[in-house]
Amino acid sequence: MRILLMILMFTVSLMLFGCSQNEEKETPAQTAVPVEKPVAVEKAEQVVQQTREKVAEVAEEAQETVAQVTNQAQNLLPTGLALPSANTGETVYTKSCSSCHKLGIIGAPKTGDKVAWQPLISHGTETLVKNAIEGIGKMPARGGNSKLTDAEVRAAVEYMLEQSR
Ligand code: HEC
Repeated sequence: MRILLMILMFTVSLMLFGCSQNEEKETPAQTAVPVEKPVAVEKAEQVVQQTREKVAEVAEEAQETVAQVTNQAQNLLPTGLALPSANTGETVYTKSCSSCHKLGIIGAPKTGDKVAWQPLISHGTETLVKNAIEGIGKMPARGGNSKLTDAEVRAAVEYMLEQSR
């Protein structure tokens, strides 16, 4: 009778031990992985996003500084001499020209509209640059941005023509 009881207790304890071992194996695998992984991924994504914003900010600041320095240098030169522009045609266009020329506001020839630009292009680039600098019809001189240098307006006109040929 005693032996039987001991065998029974031994079996029961074996079963309990087996169960608890299984639990130990499963719990960390089920809870830890899904919680920790997204947190780490989220952190990494945040860092990447912040770095991207910082890089864009610094690039923009650098571009503005270069533009300012170029404009100042331009003012020191005798009139008639032009420095190559720090701003590309596309940058100038996006900032100072696209407000009217992207959608064709107040009768502005729309950028990319080959039919509208065809007769203008036949006047020659020099005429178009001159008119953009001095203003024509409802278009204000330099698109209303008096800070633009002649070279910058020219670059923007050339960019618009490239898009509209
Ligand atoms: C406030 C709106 C406005 C802005 C900003 C503007 N334009 Fe214009 N632009 C016009 C209008 C309107 C015309 C059509 C003028 C006309 O023929 O009566 C025009 C015409 C032109 C033409 C054709 C000139 C010609 O000989 O017929 C060029 C080139 C041009 N713009 C370049 C530019 C450039 C470069 C910029 C940016 C620096 C710019 N525009 C910004 C309104 C604008």
